[in-house]
Amino acid sequence: MINVTQPLLPPMEEFIPLLKDIWNKKWLTNNGEYHQKLEQALCDYLKVEHISLFTNGTLPLIVALQSLCIKGEVITTPYSFVATTHSLWWNGITPVFVDVEPNTGNLDPDKIEAAITNKTTAIMPVHVYGTPCNVERIQNIADKYGLKVIYDAAHAFGVEVNGKSILEYGDMSTLSFHATKTYNTIEGGALICKDAKTKQRIDYLKNFGIADEVTVVAPGINGKLDELRAAYGLIQIKHINNAINSRKKISDNYRKALSNVPGISFLKEINNVRMNYSYFPIFIDKSKYYCSRDELYDTMKEKGILARKYFFPLISDFPTYRGLSSASKENLPVASKLADTVLCLPLHHELTEEEFNSIINIIIT
Ligand SMILES: Cc1ncc(COP(=O)(O)O)c(C=O)c1O
Repeated sequence: MINVTQPLLPPMEEFIPLLKDIWNKKWLTNNGEYHQKLEQALCDYLKVEHISLFTNGTLPLIVALQSLCIKGEVITTPYSFVATTHSLWWNGITPVFVDVEPNTGNLDPDKIEAAITNKTTAIMPVHVYGTPCNVERIQNIADKYGLKVIYDAAHAFGVEVNGKSILEYGDMSTLSFHATKTYNTIEGGALICKDAKTKQRIDYLKNFGIADEVTVVAPGINGKLDELRAAYGLIQIKHINNAINSRKKISDNYRKALSNVPGISFLKEINNVRMNYSYFPIFIDKSKYYCSRDELYDTMKEKGILARKYFFPLISDFPTYRGLSSASKENLPVASKLADTVLCLPLHHELTEEEFNSIINIIIT
């Protein structure tokens, strides 16, 4: 079976000494030594100043909204993983879906203003597949209407525009370090903010609101990352560039091998962007290709290749959200088309030439 992805695992011989150290010190969680080291190492690698680690990539979304006291309505994209919108729901916020751009799959700045009402308090875009949103235009709209911007950057680990981290834009950004992500801590995530005071508030909120032994300053939650996964994450940083380079080679090869196949298109590559090559989505136009997206998915699966329909169905089509007026298909024609035609091909740092060729052979026959 060739899976859509395969986790990057640190060499076991590098992990064992750190495990022994943790066993000796008997400090397993609650802002331990490895937790602190990983926060610093990630600040350095990602070129950001303030990062708070979390036990997954969903809690930082929920906590970001809490820490900025976001209420009312938030403008967001339907073309993402459900966690983006669920984080709004968990905060009692009404999601307002806005359509995406055809070239990137990201929230379309041209359509945001029409969705703003007197209840709108923030915008929550997603850098889907790690492709940067149009951050300048989104910020201009946010400034004009006094809105906060929280980026779900779950896919955008290490992504840079003109040498600047994509995580620097907006009020806050979140990351996921889930096992399927380019950089993983098995489960894990992070919240990136702009100043030390905000980080302090986030750190209270991810630890039940506890400020000291007898003081609870806010109704916080338990979002802490433990020492074992922090140590694992520290080793991963040494290997992540090699993994990203391997992913880049495979992505380039996909582009070369499939560029002249009628009915298959890709997302646009953007100049001056350092991508992390998390996903390789192709879009199937069945009027020009020999079969539909679903037929290709089935054929690949029969032959042991698991491609994935990320992101189908749209979040706005799930029962929790489909009753919202912004969830209608007429409001979301571009997102609907992408969701109906997308297929993410297998992509990971250890995909072999033989596996690559067998995937290509099925697609081009
Ligand atoms: C866009 C997006 N947001 C949020 C999440 C949630 O992250 P996690 O699974 O680490 O909770 C994911 C991934 O799983 C995601 O793809």
